[in-house]
Amino acid sequence: MLSIALKPHLPENWQLDQYLAKQKERIEAFLSNLPQSKPQVTPALAAFQYALTNGGKRFRPLLTLATADLYQMGSEQGPLCLAAAIECLHCASLVLDDLPCMDNAMLRRGKPTTHREYGEAQAVLAAMALVAEANLLLIEAIPPKHKKARQLVIALNDAYGLAGLSTGQSLDLKEEKPKTLKELEIIHANKTGALFQAAVILPGLLADAPKRELGWLSAYARNLGLAFQVKDDLLDGQSSSVTGKDTHQDEDKINFVNLIGVAASEKLYEDLMQAALAQLEPFGKSSFHLRALTHVIWKRQA
Ligand code: IPE
Ligand code: IPE
Ligand code: MG
Ligand code: MG
Ligand code: MG
Repeated sequence: MLSIALKPHLPENWQLDQYLAKQKERIEAFLSNLPQSKPQVTPALAAFQYALTNGGKRFRPLLTLATADLYQMGSEQGPLCLAAAIECLHCASLVLDDLPCMDNAMLRRGKPTTHREYGEAQAVLAAMALVAEANLLLIEAIPPKHKKARQLVIALNDAYGLAGLSTGQSLDLKEEKPKTLKELEIIHANKTGALFQAAVILPGLLADAPKRELGWLSAYARNLGLAFQVKDDLLDGQSSSVTGKDTHQDEDKINFVNLIGVAASEKLYEDLMQAALAQLEPFGKSSFHLRALTHVIWKRQA
């Protein structure tokens, strides 16, 4: 599974599959206990739990934990709260993205989309509650008087606000379509890249990483996030049984595939993933968790 180039960076006896299974198990267990408060039983609560625990590859929270591993914090509770916060935001974005007023999708993670299961109004309320939960988890992750508390709050909120995902989605839905690769990259960097950025910058800030290391992490995530959406666009033409989503969702849109073609998109994808990995070089061997996870994301087929 791992390329030869990666192997020298892995410590002996370290098993990627075991590592991923363990971190995924921690993430799933944590998410299945959300929300942390015990609210009244409502359809919005059911929709919240449905959207959060209906499967998902969990790459973003895994990235948060792998970045925390870079700072020997991967097994701690703080990064786990951050990882869950990121996944809450991601799931909220999917609920909204699937609504009839956005992509009008029927299937998500191989199941009916949240609004099809619970109705649009309950789905919107669930998305709002997921965003609120993310902020509560962020507060829980930050120790009192942490030096970077303010930056952590800004980083999380910028990821889904108008500095990130909201702007990306807004541009994606605009009637006037992007005409150049640069314009499309701006859309994708915001709608998808911003959350990937937060997934690695938040644990970096929590670890009080030096500024230049935050710069490497940020450049890594910029490439990875953009690559992730290029691959998503490539997968849009695949069958639902592969992606668990509606197919050909992007036919009325401009995406990488219909702007530059399959071959050029595949080439761009490979280049971006290489560029992402190159940004981890300065960390040396200590980035082995993150490097190994990056290879797994690189080779994803769904
Ligand atoms: C789908 O993300 C939405 C995009 C930003 C492309 P994922 O492919 O990570 O979806 P899940 O979480 O595994 O369902
Ligand atoms: C949406 O991109 C990314 C989000 C911010 C949710 P897509 O609309 O391409 O995502 P999918 O294909 O529905 O998962
Ligand atoms: Mg969309
Ligand atoms: Mg969509
Ligand atoms: Mg898509």
